[in-house]
Amino acid sequence: ITVDWDAVTAEKGGYEHFMLKEIHEQPKAYRDTMRGRMNAEGNKVILPELNLTEEQIKNIRNVQIVACGTAYNAGLVGRNLIESLVRIPVENDIASEYRYRSPIVTPETLVIVVSQSGETADTLAALREGQANGAHVLAITNVVGSSIAREANSVLVTLAGPEIAVASTKAYTSQLIAFTLLGLYLAEVRGTQSEPEVAKILAAMQSLPEQVEVILAQKEAIKTYAEQIAKHEHLFFIGRGVDYAVAQEGSLKLKEISYIHSEAYAAGELKHGTLALIEEGVPVIALATQESVLEKTVSNIKEVKARGAHVLAITHEEHANDLLRSVDQVFVIPQTLPLLTSALSVVSLQLLAYYASLALGHDVDKPRNLAKSVTVE
Ligand code: G6P
Repeated sequence: ITVDWDAVTAEKGGYEHFMLKEIHEQPKAYRDTMRGRMNAEGNKVILPELNLTEEQIKNIRNVQIVACGTAYNAGLVGRNLIESLVRIPVENDIASEYRYRSPIVTPETLVIVVSQSGETADTLAALREGQANGAHVLAITNVVGSSIAREANSVLVTLAGPEIAVASTKAYTSQLIAFTLLGLYLAEVRGTQSEPEVAKILAAMQSLPEQVEVILAQKEAIKTYAEQIAKHEHLFFIGRGVDYAVAQEGSLKLKEISYIHSEAYAAGELKHGTLALIEEGVPVIALATQESVLEKTVSNIKEVKARGAHVLAITHEEHANDLLRSVDQVFVIPQTLPLLTSALSVVSLQLLAYYASLALGHDVDKPRNLAKSVTVE
């Protein structure tokens, strides 16, 4: 008798790497993070863990989202969600910069720290800075007993389950779900969204897990594309609005594990400098999921195409044919509300980074120089 498995392989549940396993666990992570956080009628978010009275919520004058790495990138999407849903001004800060810029924090500031591990030293220091200035600090974290969870004034737990791969995937997307729930809850209390609007968003959120499955089922197409880009030294991710936030996460993921240099750019900003780097054959990944700025994004795509870029667009079915006239390839993601596209588009970029790293023969789960949790400042 031969036993052809070992403990590590078993933990990977049949996947070649933890990262691929964790990418596939996202539908479950979305469901788990949403579970019990909406009422039976599906028109209200329930978040008793916020520990904030109605009055405190109504008094919030500004929000500061502070984090590092991928959690910082989730905060960029969080800003978009909170500003659109609640109309409160939101700032994003990199935790290692936050307290050195003397941030303007008052007791009416809601500070949100985001951390998968709950142990990142800079994020913990930012939490203390917020509290020292009288702010309520809400932690969005994946680890219940972590230092950040223990010290925060309230904790919104993401239920992604343990994340082993250094490159964060399911923790990031669960943070997006947490931000959406938070935004909806604040909106309910402050009366900035009607019940039918909330119900519509919650219904669309519940379709996300199945829609992620649709993307996962197309991983071979992404793999083929990843093998093409693996031959390049530089590439660009572009997008507008929330697509720009997702572009930043896509670019970070690719750099972390494939070591291919990439930059994420706000599509309209390219012509102010970076366009100089576009030459024949340079891959550009254009996120084009936002109807309201689609036309503008297409004109930015034309700018790079005219300089010889090879463009892959990520968009919805309904725009795919139109976009095909201006790009080289299209990757289609399922249709959802503009507010929620990040939870789908990013999955294709995670797969892209994964397969590019694989094609280059790198250690996907343990990239050089990086650690899962950084407990020094
Ligand atoms: C490290 C990891 C990143 C992570 C960052 C923040 O640098 O390599 O993947 O995004 O820390 O970690 P946290 O646990 O605070 O989310």
